[in-house]
Amino acid sequence: MRFSGLAPYTLLLVSLRDLQAVPAAYEQCLSQSYYGTYGIRRAFVLDRACLEQSFSLTQLGTVVRLQEEEQNLVWVQRRPVDQSLAATKLFDHELSQLVRDLRISATRPSEAWDAAGPAQATLQTPPVQMQVLHRTHDGALLSVSDTALRILDSGLPPYWQYTAFPSSPRPLIPVPRHAKERLRQALARIRFNHVVASIVNGISVHRLQEDVRYLTGEDPASELATRHSFSEDAPRAAAWLKSRFEETGASCDLHYFREGFAPNVICKLTASEDTTETLVLGAHYDDRGSFGSVRAPGANDDASGTAALLAIARTIARRGVVFKANVLLCAFAGEEQGMVGSRAFAEELREKGANVTLMIQADMLAYRVPGERPQLGLNDPSLLGTAELTHILSNVSTIYSPELTVGYFPYPGGSDHQSFHEQGYPAAQVYERAGYTKDPMYHKTGDLSDRDGYDFQQIKSIAMVELATVLHVAGFDLEERDDPDVDPLQ
Ligand SMILES: *[C@@H]1O[C@H](CO)[C@@H](O)[C@H](O)[C@H]1NC(C)=O
Ligand SMILES: *[C@@H]1O[C@H](CO)[C@@H](O)[C@H](O)[C@H]1NC(C)=O
Ligand SMILES: [Zn+2]
Repeated sequence: MRFSGLAPYTLLLVSLRDLQAVPAAYEQCLSQSYYGTYGIRRAFVLDRACLEQSFSLTQLGTVVRLQEEEQNLVWVQRRPVDQSLAATKLFDHELSQLVRDLRISATRPSEAWDAAGPAQATLQTPPVQMQVLHRTHDGALLSVSDTALRILDSGLPPYWQYTAFPSSPRPLIPVPRHAKERLRQALARIRFNHVVASIVNGISVHRLQEDVRYLTGEDPASELATRHSFSEDAPRAAAWLKSRFEETGASCDLHYFREGFAPNVICKLTASEDTTETLVLGAHYDDRGSFGSVRAPGANDDASGTAALLAIARTIARRGVVFKANVLLCAFAGEEQGMVGSRAFAEELREKGANVTLMIQADMLAYRVPGERPQLGLNDPSLLGTAELTHILSNVSTIYSPELTVGYFPYPGGSDHQSFHEQGYPAAQVYERAGYTKDPMYHKTGDLSDRDGYDFQQIKSIAMVELATVLHVAGFDLEERDDPDVDPLQ
């Protein structure tokens, strides 16, 4: 993970909007020096050759000088939330507090980490080092030692997210034209279909509720107190999810992607036809609680999206749906540490040359302010994503879940769809609000399902949009069933 060998190079941060008008002369340099998207910025580390070739490149954005001794480069970002929840503290104030807390933690080794993570962190107490290299009004670039990185994970202020830079450049892979064309053609064919309607209406709100309550530990029979990726409970949650998905007939694997992290749960429904075409539905089952708490129930973030995946799998099985394309149902871990699990998986798919038609990430589907209409928020594709896919989702929503008011939320990535977008796959996020979240329990230990505003019906409505989209785009057949209760045409 250590970021070295590049000093004294130049880090350039360019806003996504500015990037849309990048002169062609810069494209080559940018495409070989891309280090990821952080909030609304893309990061490039430019080498001397690039700088000499195109000196005015640096005028595209903000320049940060990197020194020889930089350690882990980490972007911390305060995610925007609705005004009603807005942090009372200024970002700068929270950042200074974080730096102070890290210094204090350095003298009291790793208590917070112990609560959630592997015990070996206490065995040694290497120095905690952290330096702020650059700050914006809602994000900052830090250089942190390994120890500081571990403490940072458990000490983030509310709504903050962190992502470590990769140790080498990433490919900058655009979504190819033929992939967009495939989606345009699919959208042109979408009309109301009564079999699709009957299948998606069959999603059980009762089962959604049971699954969420198990994942959060609200169900007394559940053995889960937290699903933090570093906790001992997270692999238990993974094993439980794998068994539940397998009961529906899917074939699942635990996908271990990095030491110390719980695995991704990757389940496959194999196509009835001989095709490489693959559709991916994702959610993240890991979560984060309040600072210092060992309990992280994450009922909304993201047991809601994970239970939606399970609901889709159960509904497919009950109705005997067989897709004409391959469908992957992915419950990711490591999302809260910067989409680590989905990144590893999406990279693997790209390396294998997987033929991914679309990826839909369900992250936070449940919270509805009492009095507001149920909503479906989609990521704004002018910032990140593929407009053809968000068009499909909004059209399908109008047809099958007309109770949802559809709109964009003005934030680019920040969930697992970003990992797929970065590999050049069409990807989108479905979300609870056509604006910033109003969930007062976001990233808090109080994120339970038994509270005002937690709306299982809205989870179902959004899961219906996901399932109807896959039914239409992949195509499907129904197995013959003897049981009249599951007659698909009823
Ligand atoms: C991907 O799937 C589509 C749809 O079935 C197909 O037309 C295309 O040839 C496939 N591409 C590859 C590289 O297999
Ligand atoms: C449906 O898709 C079209 C693009 O074909 C788009 O212009 C339109 O806004 C979408 N309709 C809805 C209701 O989302
Ligand atoms: Zn989330």
